[in-house]
Amino acid sequence: MKFNKICVLGLGYIGLPTASTFAAHGVKVLGVDINPQVIETLRNGGIHIHEPGLRETVKTALASGNFSVSTKPEEADAFLIAVPTPFHEDKFGEYEGQKYKLADMRAVTSATEAIVPFLRKGNLVVLESTSPPRTTIELVAPILARSGLQAGRDFHLAYSPERVLPGQILRELIENARVIGGVTPESAQAGADLYSIFVKGQIVQTDATTAEMVKLMENTYRDVNIAIANEFARLADKFGVDVWEAIQIASLHPRVKILSPGPGVGGHCISVDPWFFVETAPELTPLIYNARRVNDAQPHFVVDLVKRALGNLKGKRIAALGLAYKPDVDDLRESPAAEVVHLLRNEGAQVKAWEPFKPDANLPGMDMAQSLDAALKDADAILLLVRHTEFVSLKPADIASKTKARAIVDAVNGWNAVDWQAAGFKVTRLGVRK
Ligand SMILES: NC(=O)c1ccc[n+]([C@@H]2O[C@H](COP(=O)([O-])OP(=O)(O)OC[C@H]3O[C@@H](n4cnc5c(N)ncnc54)[C@H](O)[C@@H]3O)[C@@H](O)[C@H]2O)c1
Repeated sequence: MKFNKICVLGLGYIGLPTASTFAAHGVKVLGVDINPQVIETLRNGGIHIHEPGLRETVKTALASGNFSVSTKPEEADAFLIAVPTPFHEDKFGEYEGQKYKLADMRAVTSATEAIVPFLRKGNLVVLESTSPPRTTIELVAPILARSGLQAGRDFHLAYSPERVLPGQILRELIENARVIGGVTPESAQAGADLYSIFVKGQIVQTDATTAEMVKLMENTYRDVNIAIANEFARLADKFGVDVWEAIQIASLHPRVKILSPGPGVGGHCISVDPWFFVETAPELTPLIYNARRVNDAQPHFVVDLVKRALGNLKGKRIAALGLAYKPDVDDLRESPAAEVVHLLRNEGAQVKAWEPFKPDANLPGMDMAQSLDAALKDADAILLLVRHTEFVSLKPADIASKTKARAIVDAVNGWNAVDWQAAGFKVTRLGVRK
């Protein structure tokens, strides 16, 4: 199938790199976002998200005339849906007395509805948003059928999940293997034709529900494995063992690879996607459900560590280093680091948070420092919450000269305890009680 023009709905972390990459490969692309500020920013030559190289790619795409943006779709050969699929904050499901989170599919529903008036015979529609199993055939196809056209017969419909790593999106979009699940083999082939415009990695064709499940399996696998690492950290603390040493030794086993414990699991994918399985089959997912609970509870264990270092937290001043959900990104969504700060404040601590990737983050109740020095200035303790490269490379002696704090709490194994002790700090580490 040939594609002269495509329409990408949702211009966030996924949609904007995808749209501008297609445009850079000579396809006419209309990028659509319901947020008028996003459209205005792009029209003025700016971008609203932080992703290395994206500003230049978008600028070049706009200048080439191949890329334009709007709040409304138009007719096109293909429509890509890359809108958010968070969970509801205020609605829950319940199974045998246990509450579970529910996917908020309103953006997918409204983006699909927006395509209906422009859908023509022979078009391709691809859902990229991470979604509960069967969304493509049970939610998207029936909405598109309001056009009078039927998926798989009159137009192609496919699901293609995104697996890019924030910070490397532009490279991984092109190089990663891509799964395309069609509602028919012809739909999968049409999807493969589209993405082969720029994808250099393997393109695997399957059916839509398999592709949906593959995406959820990848993130659920990681969530469950992080949960077991977090439980190992709790056990090591109980038994007087250094979990980091134990993990390193256990991973020498040729068939064992243990992930790292930490303050919890965040971001828009791993902490969200497993719920899509629980929601659709609570009776089949006790392990997935409990892994989520273990990871969601982990910030409380970090607070206990801080209490071990400082005693009663009332009035204690803490410099919290890092709020992002993982190293070297500016993404604070579902961040366990932010949850730790929130819990510390509930205990009466005065927390100054320093997030070099988002110094002006506007989180409710968060006291943001404008520099590392400002966070450290009056602190009683320094809490390392994210393994940002620039934090790992801090020199203990240098820090000692900038603060009266003589206690550090390391929740991510970012610092060498011996070096910090040598500089006069009392060191408390997650997963270590020796
Ligand atoms: N960010 C990632 O690293 C990543 C990785 C893999 C999968 N995903 C999945 O991709 C999807 C998109 O995620 P994202 O991170 O790009 O989200 P995002 O929040 O960065 O951006 C989504 C954009 O969609 C817009 N939008 C919302 N409703 C719309 C509508 N009806 N029509 C048009 N635009 C609309 C929003 O205004 C926003 O600009 C989600 O399902 C997510 O789970 C994200």
